[in-house]
Amino acid sequence: MRSAKIVGVGSYAPPKVLTNKDLEKMVDTSNEWIIERTGIRERHIADDKTATSDIGLEAARRALEDARINPEELDLIIVATVTPDFIFPATACLIQDRLGAKKAAAFDLEAACSGFIYGLSVARGFIASGEYDTILVIASEALTKITDWEDRATCVLFGDGAGAAILKPAEEGQGILSSYLRADGGNWDLLRVPAGGSRLPATHDSIDKRLHYMKMEGNKVFKIAVQSMTEAAIEGLKRAKIKIKDLSLLITHQANARIINAVAKRLGLPPEKVYINLDRYGNTSAASIPLALDEAVKKGKIKKGDLVILVAFGGGFTWASAVIKW
Ligand code: UT7
Repeated sequence: MRSAKIVGVGSYAPPKVLTNKDLEKMVDTSNEWIIERTGIRERHIADDKTATSDIGLEAARRALEDARINPEELDLIIVATVTPDFIFPATACLIQDRLGAKKAAAFDLEAACSGFIYGLSVARGFIASGEYDTILVIASEALTKITDWEDRATCVLFGDGAGAAILKPAEEGQGILSSYLRADGGNWDLLRVPAGGSRLPATHDSIDKRLHYMKMEGNKVFKIAVQSMTEAAIEGLKRAKIKIKDLSLLITHQANARIINAVAKRLGLPPEKVYINLDRYGNTSAASIPLALDEAVKKGKIKKGDLVILVAFGGGFTWASAVIKW
């Protein structure tokens, strides 16, 4: 079986920044509360004209440039998102057209905050089977479009952004060494958007009740996130036959600095081996890991041969890990 490796990464966030101080003027919150409870200082916000495909397109262009790959070489485009431009057609098709990726198949994948790792795993499988050679995985979110700006428990958390990676075949023992995907739909209602789907289509009443916005029982999600991400990391490392001490860097989903630090502590990883950038982006769901990965690569925190683990947790619930030899 062929292995798969990442040959280029890119990311993008809309230019407008919303700070904690700005939020103090919108809801009953404080800069101190947000920093202490989450670690977030500011987040990027898409304007009225910008949708998920616009953000994802820019990240994809940057990844293609990084990989020195022409869009016409792409065999497949996967977009991980919970904020597609439309219910259908797929955001991946919109990006495929605008990139000019004429021979690429395209589909969206919805695994909430674990979407990027789910996408990497699917792409890895297509490469292993020999069906495709060049795959673009994008995770793009415009979460602020489904944020309730009157709910202080959630509106301080989320931001917009995208990250992308190009995958190509690699020799065995190189690139993605393991991937581990899990789900538990038993807790579907702890993190969700209640209306706008086929269960509760849009009505005047659903809009009046603000049911088209994200709802989260943060406290319960917090505990399960720590437990699940720790488990995913341990299982991913076991599958890759890698010891924790050999890891160069842990990049988790960026939801809350306290969650990330708790996972790192359970794994016995020192802070210098943990990458955090949620202070500047907030929680960008599926986009958070590739946004952090791209930043870490560009800052020289990940070098050729380094062992990196990506770990995610999100609505569904879904959780996942991927161990990569860079
Ligand atoms: O991305 C998918 C995965 N998502 C996550 O992993 C998120 C997991 N959850 C969390 O990160 C945290 O639970 C939150 C950051 C969402 C909340 O932090 P918390 O420490 O769990 O706070 P809490 O919900 O227990 O609320 C503590 C207090 C409450 O007041 P009382 O009842 O103690 O008087 C809240 O009403 O903080 C209050 N509160 C706020 N105060 C100021 C809640 N939101 C705010 C706010 N500003 N924005």
